[in-house]
Amino acid sequence: MPPPKQFETTRLFARIPRLADAEPVFEAYAQDSEVTRYLIWQPYTEIEPLRDFFLNCIRSWATNASFPYMLCLKGTDVPIGSIHMNIDNFSAGFGYVLAKPYWGQGLIPEALSYLVEWALAQPEIYRTWAFCDVENPASARVMEKAGMTREGILRRWHICPTISEEPRDCFVFSKIK
Ligand SMILES: CC(C)(COP(=O)(O)OP(=O)(O)OC[C@H]1O[C@@H](n2cnc3c(N)ncnc32)[C@H](O)[C@@H]1OP(=O)(O)O)[C@@H](O)C(=O)NCCC(=O)NCCS
Repeated sequence: MPPPKQFETTRLFARIPRLADAEPVFEAYAQDSEVTRYLIWQPYTEIEPLRDFFLNCIRSWATNASFPYMLCLKGTDVPIGSIHMNIDNFSAGFGYVLAKPYWGQGLIPEALSYLVEWALAQPEIYRTWAFCDVENPASARVMEKAGMTREGILRRWHICPTISEEPRDCFVFSKIK
């Protein structure tokens, strides 16, 4: 079954991305090097490349390549973060980001928990997983709060270009059935 195009948690409304999300995301977090520190992308300095990114997000839903969601506080339609799910055969992988003013309120664990439970309820999905830089304990806590447990370290697994061009070690977490 394809993932839902939108879902709600206690405090969040998650929906598929739109091109018009580029502006609020540019303002809320895309230029922030503290936010991008452990991500695969560097801070955006112009809006146009971010629009291209959103076009790709929209395409990826159309082709089932990846399932990105924009996260809005319930009752609003303004994105404050995002979470994506990649389904690969029998496993679902996740990545997420949130604007800094909203950190520390347990919002991403809410969204991740929803998608982990959705994925494990699919008969063909046996594994949910995500990784984070070994120096990103906030992200490790998110995965623990979503019921995942740490499997180990993926050595030289991921490049965080905001930090350097060298691949870095990551913790890998999973929840399986
Ligand atoms: C990692 C991130 C998604 C966490 O989301 P969140 O909704 O703030 O998660 P939580 O509120 O559950 O907080 C998780 C941990 O962050 C830490 N934290 C809390 N407030 C914080 C703050 N203001 N600043 C930094 N870290 C904070 C705490 O260790 C917390 O764990 P605790 O609840 O056991 O104390 C968010 O910090 C973020 O977007 N970071 C930048 C992008 C990123 O690193 N994404 C993950 C890539 S793998």
